[in-house]
Amino acid sequence: MDMTISPVVVSVAGVSKHFGAQSVLSDIHLTVQAGERVVVCGPSGSGKSTLARCISGLEGYGSGTVTVNGATVSPQMRHADLVRANIGMVFQHFNLFPHLTVLENCTLAQKWVRRRSKVEASRVALEYLGKVRLADKASAYPAQLSGGQQQRVAIARALCLNPSVMLFDEATSALDPEMVKEVLETMILLARDGMTMICITHEMGFARAVADKIVFMDGGRIVQEAPPDDFFGERADPRIRKFLSQVF
Ligand SMILES: Nc1ncnc2c1ncn2[C@@H]1O[C@H](COP(=O)(O)OP(=O)(O)OP(=O)(O)O)[C@@H](O)[C@H]1O
Ligand SMILES: [Mg+2]
Repeated sequence: MDMTISPVVVSVAGVSKHFGAQSVLSDIHLTVQAGERVVVCGPSGSGKSTLARCISGLEGYGSGTVTVNGATVSPQMRHADLVRANIGMVFQHFNLFPHLTVLENCTLAQKWVRRRSKVEASRVALEYLGKVRLADKASAYPAQLSGGQQQRVAIARALCLNPSVMLFDEATSALDPEMVKEVLETMILLARDGMTMICITHEMGFARAVADKIVFMDGGRIVQEAPPDDFFGERADPRIRKFLSQVF
């Protein structure tokens, strides 16, 4: 992709955060342009989820600024900014409503956030369920689906709101190995469609295949931000090489 003409979608500028005396994010700077795919990795406790939660407005931060589509993101966000920023999040646990069908899970937020009619919301939902290859499960309940299928519904549900960026936090790490592949394939399809994505994952094959840049965090800091070739190359930071030797 041509980085020079793409607008900035996500901007994290000098963000720091403490939990009590513990510093969990230290002076984080990260820019994600439209259509860019960023993979975030690093050891457990390095602050990846905290960063994702700050970007999606689920958590506050002590200093710095996060903007998405030019709207300042914080837990106190106004409704108009929330709609403008429009961040799609997919977590390890899909959090589908068990008492609602797949279709209903995908239409609920559309009616509230996008003010779509039932007919329009259903049309959009079926479009994205088709994209994740689950249109035939529209009337099923989550409990009738495999973990991989439920996660694909969660992805479709997020896409229904036409997010400007999709944030995945270990979307495949709770799945059985045979289901990891189908969810990664869905994520790869999204990437090919040009979706702006931030993916926290330890799936380094995925990172190599889709990432424009890989961000490695350790101890609340970004240790390195590099394209995959550099990241997996000989000159990578020793902390990265140690990490890679553990995940492979
Ligand atoms: N609500 C909280 N209160 C206090 N400390 C927290 C809280 N949430 C996270 N932390 C701490 O912040 C640090 C970063 O946690 P975070 O969940 O962001 O790490 P992570 O990189 O996502 O790890 P993992 O790979 O295990 O998911 C950890 O030391 C964690 O214990
Ligand atoms: Mg985490």
